[in-house]
Amino acid sequence: MNKLGPKQSSYDKILLMYSGGLDTSCMLKWLQETYNAQIYTFTADLGQEFADPSRFREIEEKAYNLGAVKHYTVDLKEIFVKEYIFPTIKANGLYQGIYPLSTAVGRPLIGIEAVKIAKKEGIEVVAHGCTGKGNDQIRLNTTIKAYAPEIEVLQPMIEWNMGRDEEIKYAQQRNIPIANQNKKYSTDENLFGRSAECDILEHPEIEPPEDSKEWSTRPEDAPDKPEYITINFEKGNPVGLNGENMDGVSLIRQVHKIGCKHGIGRIEHMEDRAIGLKSRETYEVPAALIIIKAHKDLEKYVCTKHENSFKSIVDQRWTELAYDGMWVDPLRDALEAFINEINKKVTGSVKVKLFKGNAQVVARESSYGIYDLNLATYETKSSFDQRLSYGFIPLFGLQSRMGFITKKKLEENEKE
Ligand code: ARG
Repeated sequence: MNKLGPKQSSYDKILLMYSGGLDTSCMLKWLQETYNAQIYTFTADLGQEFADPSRFREIEEKAYNLGAVKHYTVDLKEIFVKEYIFPTIKANGLYQGIYPLSTAVGRPLIGIEAVKIAKKEGIEVVAHGCTGKGNDQIRLNTTIKAYAPEIEVLQPMIEWNMGRDEEIKYAQQRNIPIANQNKKYSTDENLFGRSAECDILEHPEIEPPEDSKEWSTRPEDAPDKPEYITINFEKGNPVGLNGENMDGVSLIRQVHKIGCKHGIGRIEHMEDRAIGLKSRETYEVPAALIIIKAHKDLEKYVCTKHENSFKSIVDQRWTELAYDGMWVDPLRDALEAFINEINKKVTGSVKVKLFKGNAQVVARESSYGIYDLNLATYETKSSFDQRLSYGFIPLFGLQSRMGFITKKKLEENEKE
């Protein structure tokens, strides 16, 4: 019979995906003690430290202090933006119409990079800090096992069965530094957003307290004057802000900053996890929300009604696949072939008004817009021949009228 969980009781080398937080710091020690292994550590830079770039040096130092034999910090910002965030924008990726996948699309990239490091160092076991209850474990494990079936993935959070209180005791006994601000929330950050869960946030009947937010201004404290920004798109990718061309990382950072100031993108969500649990999640995703909103508007402007209707079905399917951690599934390539075809004409600009927590598209321009002022105008000069309505409506409404008459007949018969 196949045993679930670790295959061996000791290992030579383990690569640990290390964030520097309490869980993975305890893990660094625990893996050495439990499996008698040499621990390599890896921290992915997905732009999570908006405020403090020196944080990565601290994480590295901490890893070595806790006994890591070699630490990797890998800057993945550019590839994250180009190959993960831009496709999310082109798919208008809002899970259940609300959550812009900020954590979800980062995980496969981290998994792929972990495989690269493991192969380079001849490591066959990878460990990460996910619990057995969330989505991130699915995203990491599925990607890693697809790229390297020979690699074993360990989840110490499942194995050690320590509660938060026991973890803190474990950390104190082994001189593992515990952050001075007693972190109540489990958070995840990258360029595209910040998520926070746990503690009081687990009570969906209570509004998320202000201390669960770190990035953005409360809408009620945001400036009393609206601010307008214009985002330029080329083939569905955001390429410029207020007329200035910009690389993706800088553009997202700029929009993030302006969005935070106006209290945009503070989301609370009763979410359906892939694993089947319903959970209360909260996010700060200013840049993601503003850019996706703008993209969706421009796309709608240049596409036909039929394209728009089908695109929303494809978008939803793509979004669920990404959320569920099936990044490697070939269905994604097929859906993206369609998404990219549609996005060939999503070139132009969108003006967004930001005001007290609200981002509203107020204008758009594109040379591919399927809008003709001559046809649409209510002025007398319009070239639209209104008399065509006399022929069009009887045909367009034919089946619905017939259906209505049949329904009435049925109701009469039921009365008798
Ligand atoms: N519910 C979100 C998702 O599945 C956020 C997960 C956040 N992860 C975390 N470790 N706090 O994408």
